[in-house]
Amino acid sequence: MAVLTVSNLSKIFVERKIFENISFHLEKGDKVGLIGANGVGKTTLFKIITGQLDPSGGGVSKEKNLTFGYMEQHSCSTPDRTVYSELLSIFEPLIKDEKRLDEISFMIENNIGDTDELVAEQFKIRERFERDGGLTYVSRTRAALNGLGFTDDEFYMPTERLSGGQRSKLSLAKLLLSGADILLLDEPTNHLDISAVNWLESFVKEYRGTVLVVSHDRYFLDSVTNKTLEIEHGKSQMYIGNYSVFMEKKRKQQEMIEQQYENQIKEISRIEGIVEQQKRWGRERNFITAASKQKQADRLKEELVIPDKELEQVHFTVKPMANST
Ligand SMILES: Nc1ncnc2c1ncn2[C@@H]1O[C@H](COP(=O)(O)OP(=O)(O)O)[C@@H](O)[C@H]1O
Ligand SMILES: [Mg+2]
Repeated sequence: MAVLTVSNLSKIFVERKIFENISFHLEKGDKVGLIGANGVGKTTLFKIITGQLDPSGGGVSKEKNLTFGYMEQHSCSTPDRTVYSELLSIFEPLIKDEKRLDEISFMIENNIGDTDELVAEQFKIRERFERDGGLTYVSRTRAALNGLGFTDDEFYMPTERLSGGQRSKLSLAKLLLSGADILLLDEPTNHLDISAVNWLESFVKEYRGTVLVVSHDRYFLDSVTNKTLEIEHGKSQMYIGNYSVFMEKKRKQQEMIEQQYENQIKEISRIEGIVEQQKRWGRERNFITAASKQKQADRLKEELVIPDKELEQVHFTVKPMANST
């Protein structure tokens, strides 16, 4: 079942069309690599999905109550907090529950208040606490910080003293631990060293939610993704498989298109040969045949699907109606 559906999305920035036909859906648990050249609109797409930008056309629909995690939304709000408490802050509800559980235990032990009522409350909170990861949030917090390369000393550093790189690692940690149903990761490996990338890899692989990730790191994509969404020529196409599988499919697709293209080019020149010949014969019926053959050739030219590698060269000789995607 689709958790997120994007339909015919288009975006124009002040007269400049970024993309015009983005359609895809994500299923629960999908780990999708979003790829495309610089400037095709990957970040723009993320911002439209999260509602930070309006699309120029089309729409995004998601399953009810589903939550997004997007890196830009998670910046450090309180500069004097330490790295550790900044990261723990996303577990505020669990911390509150924990405090209340301590209070209740203390009250029961010391016979303060109505024990039956307290036990009932304790049961309710305990259940919610465990369901929401209360037993593991401290270890997950430490693991995320260590995994992303913070040393134990840095745990207690005020966030205002962090470098830009450390700051984005902290934002990434907050995003990852936020428990969002859909994580939108925009080049998350940019500030990471190899061991942090490895940690992120296993985190994303094991993530029970859905992940859409932009990355230029093909090894990272290969290791974490099961689908690949490509944006090219303003359109999108979803491929089943990781980056390498995608590249192989793409190569075969291009080969097929090139083969068809060559056949079509041959056919066009064969027909145009007939046109020339008919014209040389010079009778009226020859001109009629020539005209109708020329029409046929022109139609074939219009229908030509130009392979990517030919796009530049043929641009001036035949008018491409469609390109290969
Ligand atoms: N707010 C904006 N106003 C005008 N143009 C923008 C704006 N944001 C992005 N762009 C342009 O839209 C294009 C797509 O940008 P972006 O989504 O960042 O691409 P990507 O993330 O794929 O590299 C780029 O050419 C960029 O310059
Ligand atoms: Mg970008």
